[in-house]
Amino acid sequence: MKDLAEDVIISESGKVLLLIAKPVMPALEATVSSIKASGRTVEVLEYNFPGEPSFSLFEELLVTSTALNPDCVVGVGGGSVLDCAKLLAALTGNSQKVQDVPGTNILKGRKISLICIPTTSGTGSEMSPNAILLKEETNEKLGIISPDLVPDACYIDPELTVSLPRKFTAETGIDALCHCIEAYTNKFAHPAVDLYALKGIELISANLLKACNDGSDIEARSALSLGSMYGGLCLGPVNTSAVHALSYGLGGKFHISHGLANAILLPEVLKFNMPSTLSKTAQIAVAMGVKPCATEKETAKAEIEFIRELSKSCGIPQHLTEIGITADSLEDLATIALNVKRLLNNNPREVSFEDAIGIYSRIL
Ligand SMILES: NC(=O)c1ccc[n+]([C@@H]2O[C@H](COP(=O)([O-])OP(=O)(O)OC[C@H]3O[C@@H](n4cnc5c(N)ncnc54)[C@H](O)[C@@H]3O)[C@@H](O)[C@H]2O)c1
Ligand SMILES: [Fe+2]
Repeated sequence: MKDLAEDVIISESGKVLLLIAKPVMPALEATVSSIKASGRTVEVLEYNFPGEPSFSLFEELLVTSTALNPDCVVGVGGGSVLDCAKLLAALTGNSQKVQDVPGTNILKGRKISLICIPTTSGTGSEMSPNAILLKEETNEKLGIISPDLVPDACYIDPELTVSLPRKFTAETGIDALCHCIEAYTNKFAHPAVDLYALKGIELISANLLKACNDGSDIEARSALSLGSMYGGLCLGPVNTSAVHALSYGLGGKFHISHGLANAILLPEVLKFNMPSTLSKTAQIAVAMGVKPCATEKETAKAEIEFIRELSKSCGIPQHLTEIGITADSLEDLATIALNVKRLLNNNPREVSFEDAIGIYSRIL
C-alpha cells in the first residue's frame, strides 16, 4: 500500500479523489501526503456512515466528486466504501443517473480510473463487478452489476485490516467464506472458479478464529485477505445464491450488517441445499480439514456442524431473535428474498416461499 503514491494510475492523474473509511484515515496519512507532494490535486472524503450505503448518501458523495471531476478515484475501506468509490468513478460526469443503473449491464462506460483497497476481509468488492446500494424509501438493496465496476487496480494489504475489531473480523470473514461456498455449490459453478473457491474456503476456515482471537496475527490476517480476494474472484463469473438472497431483507429492512446476516443463515441454507450438493459439501469438508465420516452424507453433516461451531466460536449469534427479529417478520423477509431472483436462480435447490419461511423459522 505504501507504493500507492507511485502507482502509474496516480502518476497519470492530475486530480485524485480518495474516499477513505474513518478508522483507517491515520494509516493513510503518509500516503495522502506523498500524493499531494507529487503536485496532484487531492481531495480526501472521510467515510463515516453507519449501515449499508444508500442512494441518497451516494448522491451526496457524487456532488463533491462532480465538483472535483477527478481523473482517478481511490476507495479505501470495507465493502460500503469500495462500492461507493466504484460508483463514483463510473457515474461522475456520466449522463446516466444512479437511480437508472441497478440491474445487470445497464451501467456503461466508466471514464475515470479506479483503485480499490479493502480494509475488511471481506466483501471481495475490490475484485467484483458489483456494487450494492440501499433504496431507503422501500428498504430494498439494489445491485448494480457491470464490468465497468471492476477496478483498474487494487492493493490488498493485510496490515490495513489489523485494526478491524473482532466483531467485524468475524462477520466479514464469514461473508467471504459464503462467497466461496456459494460459488462452489452454485448451480452455475465452474471448474476454474472452483479452484479459487476451495482455496478461499481453506484459508478462511483455518485462520478466521486466529484473527478474531488476536487481531495483530499478521499471518492469519494475510490468509484472510487472500481468502477474501479469492471469494471476490468468484463473484463476477459465478456469484452467490440463497444465503445472500435470504439475507437481503435482514440487511435492507432490519439494517443487520451484511456479514452477520449471511453468517446466521449459512449453516441452515447449506443443510437445506444438501440433497442437491452432497458431494460438494463433503468436498468442502476436506478443504476445511474436517475428518471424513463413513458416508458422504455424514461428512456433509459434520461439515455443516463445523461451520456452525466456527461461527459460534467467533462470537456470531446463531438465532434471529438474538438480533431482534421476531416470528411476525418472517413473511416479509421471505417475500423480499423471493424477489432476489438474480441470486436465487443460482441456488442448487429451488427455494419456494414456504422453504424460505422454513429456513428462517429453524434459525429463529
Ligand atoms: N460489491 C460487492 O461485490 C459486495 C459483496 C458483498 C458485500 N457488499 C456490500 O458491502 C457492504 C458491507 O461491507 P463490509 O462488510 O466490508 O463492511 P463495512 O464496509 O460496512 O465496514 C464495517 C465497519 O468496519 C469499519 N472498518 C472497516 N475497515 C476497518 C479497519 N481496518 N479497522 C477498523 N474499522 C474498520 C467500518 O468503518 C464500518 O464501521 C454492504 O453494503 C454489502 O452489500 C458488496
Ligand atoms: Fe457477501
